[in-house]
Amino acid sequence: MTIRRIDDCLSTREGRLFIEECDALDLLRQFESPLFVFSEDQLRRNARRFRQAFQAGWPDAEVVVMPAAKANWLLAIQRILADEGCGCDIYSAGELTAALDAGIEPGRISVNGVPKDAEHIRRSIAAGCRITVDSLEEVDLIEAAAAQSSQPALVRLRLKPVLADFIRHSDFVAEGLAPTDIAALAYKGGLTFEQVMAIGPRLLQAPNVVLVGFHQHHGRHKRTTRYWEAQMTAYAAEIGRVCRALGGYRPLEIDIGGGFAIPRDPFNAATNYSEPVQYAALHAISKALSLLGARPRYAVMARLVDTITGHPNRRPAPTIETYAEVCTRTLRRELPKHGIETRGLTLQLEPGRALHGDAGIHLTTVKAIKRTTTPIRWNVIVVDTTEFWFTGGRYEHHLHHYLFANKTDAPMTGKADIIGRSCYGDRLLPAVPTPHVEIGDVLALLDTGAYQEVSMSNFNALPRPASVLVTGDRAALIRRRETEEDVFRRDMLPPHLAR
Ligand SMILES: Cc1ncc(COP(=O)(O)O)c(C=O)c1O
Repeated sequence: MTIRRIDDCLSTREGRLFIEECDALDLLRQFESPLFVFSEDQLRRNARRFRQAFQAGWPDAEVVVMPAAKANWLLAIQRILADEGCGCDIYSAGELTAALDAGIEPGRISVNGVPKDAEHIRRSIAAGCRITVDSLEEVDLIEAAAAQSSQPALVRLRLKPVLADFIRHSDFVAEGLAPTDIAALAYKGGLTFEQVMAIGPRLLQAPNVVLVGFHQHHGRHKRTTRYWEAQMTAYAAEIGRVCRALGGYRPLEIDIGGGFAIPRDPFNAATNYSEPVQYAALHAISKALSLLGARPRYAVMARLVDTITGHPNRRPAPTIETYAEVCTRTLRRELPKHGIETRGLTLQLEPGRALHGDAGIHLTTVKAIKRTTTPIRWNVIVVDTTEFWFTGGRYEHHLHHYLFANKTDAPMTGKADIIGRSCYGDRLLPAVPTPHVEIGDVLALLDTGAYQEVSMSNFNALPRPASVLVTGDRAALIRRRETEEDVFRRDMLPPHLAR
């Protein structure tokens, strides 16, 4: 049998897709379509690569990988990460429950997010987690909870370093074409120098509170190493400035957050800036042709719309090792310039997408095919999943790499919109190359391991699909498929409507 490797966990064998040693089609037969599938091997490998690569560049102190739970908080996934010695970045009381239930060591849990309510703070301190202070309001709550606790409250200040030297536009859709430094400043996370100075001295004085260090997270504005160099340079300068202003304070740990890109980086659709121009040109031509009447207009437009084809991003992002090298090298160069010794300074990082993304795929089955030949040519392939089960990625205009799991060797002879089952437009993959597609074919969307399963909704009253963990040639259900009963279980009728 010829095995063609796609990456470390995906391969094709005799025209079929395999994840680890499991045939994707067998998985669907066993667990039904659609399905989220996660690779245990890939997850473990990614966690180890992050730890080893950062540790290699940071030899004089410990490195702690604290993957972002928001990207994938399924219990089985968190259990694997606990097993790998990972900590966890959490954003809510629910994610704290997920991390503790999975057995993540509490001292390796980074409690992020705004607002944090009193009970969440109390529980985090009692468990021995590290709280990232990110608003003036939570300081009162931390002081009050610390006063009642037998455990000291371990806190870090979330800084907001200004990326003044990095003015290239941000990839984030919400910020449009804003320069990255402005988009980062407009982002809700982090405290300005003035806010830090309003809080820092108070935390240093507060009984039973220990200021253990600093945190920063800018997110994936850019995937380039230059962006990471700019972030680390600005972070080091801000740490130095705050330490001086706090009278020579010395941090025990610094957390650099997450934002590293997934290797195949599905985050490209929003950055195709030629698209508006293409559409504007089509619109102008269409308007001009309308003067000639419907038939000639359709004849020309049929040829023109056919020229539009989408492709997932073809340029891979930097590797985990490259990100590790640039981050650690820059920090080791810059921190001493600002009087901060790196020996003994724990380095923490919170990768989400880059750790989970390529450990997951989504399998979905072709249910309907509409081929239009007149008055324009357009093909639509309808699958049994929906964009409402990819909301994390849709928010960032992801365009996922894909292949047909039962036709991996078939030539891409056609082109179609791949459409989900909801009543919205649900264009999962717009005008992409396809092989000859038939009902029952299985589409695999790659790199769906981060932010997708955990952001599914029940739009159109659709029960959400199951999740399966693959370990070698074994597969086990880790989140069951919803039933219709699950979908309606929170509904209640007020007495006057009850019959
Ligand atoms: C504080 C913090 N850390 C880490 C992450 C993970 O980011 P990513 O998935 O881009 O690596 C996030 C994401 O929003 C975050 O808010």
